[in-house]
Amino acid sequence: MKSIVLRKMKVVRKIKRMQSIAWEAKRKGKTIGFVPTMGYLHEGHLNLVRIARKRSDLSVVSIFVNPLQFGPKEDFKEYPRDINRDKKLLEREKVDILFYPDEKEMYPDDFATYIKIERLTEGLCGRSRPGHFQGVATVVGKLFNIVMPDFAVFGQKDAQQALVIKRMVRDLNLPIKIIVAPTVREKDGLAMSSRNIYLAPNERKEATVLYHSLMMAREMIKKGERNPSLIIGKMREMIEEKNGKIDYISIVDTKELRDLDLIKGEVLIALAVYFGKTRLIDNIILKV
Ligand code: PAJ
Repeated sequence: MKSIVLRKMKVVRKIKRMQSIAWEAKRKGKTIGFVPTMGYLHEGHLNLVRIARKRSDLSVVSIFVNPLQFGPKEDFKEYPRDINRDKKLLEREKVDILFYPDEKEMYPDDFATYIKIERLTEGLCGRSRPGHFQGVATVVGKLFNIVMPDFAVFGQKDAQQALVIKRMVRDLNLPIKIIVAPTVREKDGLAMSSRNIYLAPNERKEATVLYHSLMMAREMIKKGERNPSLIIGKMREMIEEKNGKIDYISIVDTKELRDLDLIKGEVLIALAVYFGKTRLIDNIILKV
């Protein structure tokens, strides 16, 4: 008779302990799959978790709301948190380890080292969130050294972040494969985000315009339009009609994220828009 082994998810709060578990797994020839998050998990996160679990012997998810990647006027304090709910969701997904450090553990008082990726971080979200990607790269670099994964899974929803992490891994020769998984959406097209709960009911309805504007752009390109400003102008009109306050709408190449004069090759159409106080991002990639 086959014995049923019930493995309970381990919650690890200390860096040293996480590293010794990772070393032990490696010593036994096990592969480690990793999903870094800031918690308040939704289906978008869980989809990444499923990919990590399927492809690894040991699956690790981290939850850490990283103060370094929030600007002084941003929502670090208000960022939604519900660790008990998150633990249950991860247990249900049969994750092996939840790494859940506190701020002091990650950033001791005399912390002084940062990772900066140039150029790629200058446009899109980097323009309106100075220091954001340095905060992201630094924490992800640390997490990679703590969890020592063979691969890590990121979401296409944060397209610039995924690209920045890929570049960091290549530039610093980190022996980690980066997998990028598609954006998971609500039924009406709104990209899932921990921040969606900030939206008032009317804002929540209006926010679907982001996806619709991306679909309209796709349609225009399909019909032969190659002028980015014309497409951006139409998207702008559509979004402003639904009371969205535009931070940026950009059409860029997918390698260097540079603005395009002409739509050609693989392009990323990315946007950030405020509904009330909530800043939402979304994007699509098209091959022309
Ligand atoms: P967080 O916003 O919690 O997102 C964690 C991961 O989930 C990221 O890779 C993000 O792209 C992915 N994700 C979020 N919403 C998604 C959706 N609707 N569909 C698919 N993937 C989605 O991104 C961060 O945290 C942080 O910057 C982090 C990388 C953890 C560093 O602090």
